[in-house]
Amino acid sequence: MKPHAIKHFLNTQDWSRTDLDALLTQASLYKQHKLGDALKGKSIALVFFNPSLRTRTSFELGAFQLGGHAVVLQPGKDAWPIEFELGTVMDGDTEEHIAEVARVLSRYVDMIAVRAFPKFIDWSKDRQDQVLRGFAQHATVPVINLETITHPCQELAHVLALQEHFGTPDLRGKKYVLTWTYHPKALNTAVANSALTIATRMGMDVTLLCPTPEYILDERYMGWAQQNVAENGGSLSISHDTDSAYAGADIIYAKSWGALPYFGNWEPEKPIRDQYKHFIVDERKMALTNNGVFSHCLPLRRNIKATDAVMDSPQCIAINEAENRLHVQKAVMAALANQ
Ligand code: CP
Repeated sequence: MKPHAIKHFLNTQDWSRTDLDALLTQASLYKQHKLGDALKGKSIALVFFNPSLRTRTSFELGAFQLGGHAVVLQPGKDAWPIEFELGTVMDGDTEEHIAEVARVLSRYVDMIAVRAFPKFIDWSKDRQDQVLRGFAQHATVPVINLETITHPCQELAHVLALQEHFGTPDLRGKKYVLTWTYHPKALNTAVANSALTIATRMGMDVTLLCPTPEYILDERYMGWAQQNVAENGGSLSISHDTDSAYAGADIIYAKSWGALPYFGNWEPEKPIRDQYKHFIVDERKMALTNNGVFSHCLPLRRNIKATDAVMDSPQCIAINEAENRLHVQKAVMAALANQ
C-alpha cells in the first residue's frame, strides 16, 4: 500500500479553496472559544533562523491553548548550525545536516515549523526556498512555513481580518491595492508575494502599486496571481502611480521590498528607492479611497511606511490582523496534527 502523503503548509497555493475556507472558518471558531484539546499530547518544533515577535508568540501560545507544547529552536544560537547542501564536505561552520535534523525532530514532535528568510545574495538560489524544502523533504511529520519567501500564515490572518471588517467571507469585487512603501533597507518579498497570491485567490480586483517595473515581483508569484484571476475571477493590474491606484480602493495593504534585479547588489538600488519615500501611506492618499481599510503585517516603521495618523485611525486593522495570526495558526496546527 502507498504510504500516506504528508500534508504540509508551505504555501496557500498548494491548498484548495475549500480547505483554505475551512481553516478560516475554524479560525473564527477559535477566536470565539480560545481553548480546546485538538493538540492534546501533541508537540511542535518552532525553528527560527530569524527574529520574530508575532509568529513566535502566537505559535507558542496557540499550541498551549489547544493542549499542545511548542519547543523553540534557533539554529546557530541555541541549536547546532545546519547544513542544507546535499553531498557537501562539511568542513565549514555547519555542525549537522538537515537529513539528520529533520528526521530526529520528526521522532520527537508532531509538526515542524520553520522561519528562514532569504540570504539576500543570490535570488536564483533564495527562490528555491532550500531551508523550508529541506525540512519538508526530510521530515516525516508536517512542516509549516513561518515565513521564508512567502508568508502563508500571514495571508490567512490578513484575509480573516478583511472578512471581519467587511462582514462577509466573500471578498469578490473589492478593489485591493498592494502598495510598495519605502524602507531604508531592501526587505524580503515574502509578504508581498503572499498578499498578491491570496488577494487574487479571493477573487478581488488587485493592483500591484510599486515605483518602477523593477519592483514587480518574481514571475512565480505573478504567475500564481494570473492563474488565480483565471480561476477565481477578479483582475490583476500593475501601477506606478499612487493617486490613480488609491482612487476608489477598498483595501490598502502596504509592504516594502527590495527590487529583484538588484538582489545581492543593493547599492545601486538605494538611490532608486530613496526617490520614492512619498509612497508612504498617509491621510491624503487614504482620503482618495472608498473609505478604504488599511493593513500591514507588522513590524512597521511609523512615519516611514505609514503615518501616525493612518496607524491610529479606525481604518487601520493591522492589530486585528496580528491577533488573527493566533487563531489561524491554531486552525493550521489542528488540521495538520490530526490529518
Ligand atoms: N508579521 C510577522 O510575521 O511578525 P514577526 O516577524 O514579528 O513574527
